[in-house]
Amino acid sequence: MKVAVYPGTFDPVTNGHLDVIHRALSLCDRLTVGVAIREEKKPLFPAEERAEIIRQVLKNEPRVEVETFDGLLTDFAKKHNATFLIRGLRAVSDFDYELQMALTNRKLAPDTDTVFLMTAENYIFISSSLVKEIARLGGDISELVPSAVEEALHKKFS
Ligand code: COA
Repeated sequence: MKVAVYPGTFDPVTNGHLDVIHRALSLCDRLTVGVAIREEKKPLFPAEERAEIIRQVLKNEPRVEVETFDGLLTDFAKKHNATFLIRGLRAVSDFDYELQMALTNRKLAPDTDTVFLMTAENYIFISSSLVKEIARLGGDISELVPSAVEEALHKKFS
């Protein structure tokens, strides 16, 4: 059984993340989405709410589980018996940071590899911060995020 972990802050999850999740599912039998708590990033949504939104969006996908985590990603992956980590690449600018993280994680857990998936081109410009800014300023985010996120953001900013 091939198990993968897809980590991120997901504050909130976007259609770009969901695109990566669907691509990852064609490579593994089970995917654990790891929602990093990351208080230092001052997230808009508490970690458990970020996780719950993803669970709701992916409720028809039995091969996905969603859990929050603190601490090292490699420990979280080990706990879930994951043999690879998934990361999405949007543009060349993501590469340096991702390479550094992948090599650090390989140092910490030599048996765990990182698999990079190219995000679909219509989502390469999206980031969670951008989505939050558009929502805060009253713009249309319906094509960037699932409806559960749209509702959650409207509630936050209304
Ligand atoms: N579509 C849309 N947006 C995407 C995306 C995609 N496919 N891939 C990344 N992004 C965006 C995110 O929305 C986020 O945007 P924001 O900065 O505006 O919020 C940004 O890119 C960063 O992506 P994210 O996936 O949230 O990564 P991160 O850098 O916040 O998360 C962790 C990094 C959680 C994986 C990393 O910090 C970690 O592993 N932490 C655990 C501690 C640890 O083990 N440290 C050692 C690791 S080397």
